[in-house]
Amino acid sequence: LLPKQVRLVEVGPRDGLQNEPQPISIADKVRLIDDLSAAGLSYIEAGSFVSPKWVPQMAGSAEVFGQITRKPGVTYAALTPNLKGLEAAIAAGVKEVAVFGAASEAFSQKNINCSIANSLARFAPLMEVARAHDIRVRGYVSCVLGCPYEGSVAPDKVAEVARELYAMGCYEISLGDTIGTGTPGKTRTLIETVSRAVPREHLAGHFHDTYGQAMANIYASLLEGIAVFDSSIAGLGGCPYVQGASGNVASEDVLYLLNGLDIETGVDLDMLISAGERISQLLGRANGSRVARTRHSG
Ligand code: HMG
Ligand code: MG
Repeated sequence: LLPKQVRLVEVGPRDGLQNEPQPISIADKVRLIDDLSAAGLSYIEAGSFVSPKWVPQMAGSAEVFGQITRKPGVTYAALTPNLKGLEAAIAAGVKEVAVFGAASEAFSQKNINCSIANSLARFAPLMEVARAHDIRVRGYVSCVLGCPYEGSVAPDKVAEVARELYAMGCYEISLGDTIGTGTPGKTRTLIETVSRAVPREHLAGHFHDTYGQAMANIYASLLEGIAVFDSSIAGLGGCPYVQGASGNVASEDVLYLLNGLDIETGVDLDMLISAGERISQLLGRANGSRVARTRHSG
């Protein structure tokens, strides 16, 4: 049985733009975010408060949060890897953040420079401060269907990290197929395993389309009762620590799938396509959404 409603978490301004090498002005980022809220998206990951040495593109996140037009009912979230990041986010008026861990030790080291256990220990004081400020915290687990350094990753390991994040107060756990190697059968097994640790209604799917499997994995997840998906406008993105990782699954393509299944999202496809065309042209990059490419060549 498919869900009747799905919440799309738009990660383009963060997961997408963090991987773009060329400078993008604050005004252009703000325009993108405002276009996305106008299209009806209710959750937009708008930036991240990480070390600018590690991810230079996200350096202006405080300015971005200061300049967006906050549409009522829309959540504007930011990544925060540690207390320093959370404090900067709070100062910028951020009301929802996300912490990010991994199911693979090697990836944890390359991405946040510490072991999985240390990362979880670092999140604990962050969670406390967030709670005191009424800030909701989402949790990411990376490498849930494969790691660029370690290869296959055991679903039990993913479940263990997800359980810990959920237990420390993350209201939702987003399962990240960081390198896009997952396939629908493995996705199904993953959800069945992880949902024994975290209830399905608190799980989200975050698929990268590197191997062209993202849409199939989303459909497999829908059949497993998952009703929250992360996606990126125009398929922007990748991961700065994963060589050759293509973008997240394109929001336009996910919306086309959901519309076809009569699943409600509250998002307008035409407006979404326009937002994606605009940012693709600005970046001088081919639009990563097949739906958008087809509409514009017709
Ligand atoms: P570190 O070097 O171990 O940290 O980095 P540190 O505490 O030793 O600090 C080193 C320097 O960074 C110091 O500055 C700190 O002040 C500064 P210095 O004294 O050298 O001038 N610093 C910070 N600056 C700004 N904001 C902060 C912050 N923290 C420390 N919050 C750290 C550890 C976690 C900070 C670093 O590794 C980092 O920033 N990593 C970011 C990694 C990242 O953003 N990756 C991409 C996002 S995750 C992703 O894309 C996956 C996802 O999409 C899901 C999926 O697809 O799987 C979510
Ligand atoms: Mg990602």
